Amino acid sequence: MDKIAIGADHGGFELKEKLINHYKAQGIVLVDEGTYSEESCDYPDIADKMAADILSGNVDWGILICGTGIGISIAANRHKGIRAALLYDEFSAEMAHAHNNANVIVFGGRTMKFEDVVRRIDVFMKTKYEGGRHQRRLDKLDR
Ligand code: RB5
Repeated sequence: MDKIAIGADHGGFELKEKLINHYKAQGIVLVDEGTYSEESCDYPDIADKMAADILSGNVDWGILICGTGIGISIAANRHKGIRAALLYDEFSAEMAHAHNNANVIVFGGRTMKFEDVVRRIDVFMKTKYEGGRHQRRLDKLDR
């Protein structure tokens, strides 16, 4: 089983807590990278922590959440080797794994419903990376 981390700023805190509890009930423990309250904080700090943990191999992949998912996506993607994908529907969830081999999936705590997010995570987890021509493209990202 992959080691999966989850992190959020204050805009994603509530959704993060719900997801931790949802997966805990299924026997899946998400590594909680903060934030730990609704107090205002800066999403780049959470994205940096997640990126460091993925790039060092401490965790396999992660889930990041801010208000819209936009700021924390931008922050995560500043790190070479991180492929953060904002999953806005189930098709994007499938493609983010099959084609982009995303190692971070991102959601908006103020723009997305919990049930939709869970479905997208489940699709992402069930999908396999296709490799082949997609690997050539991913290699170009890290040149
Ligand atoms: C915080 O208020 C908000 O700007 C942040 O959560 C995120 O939506 C940024 O993109």
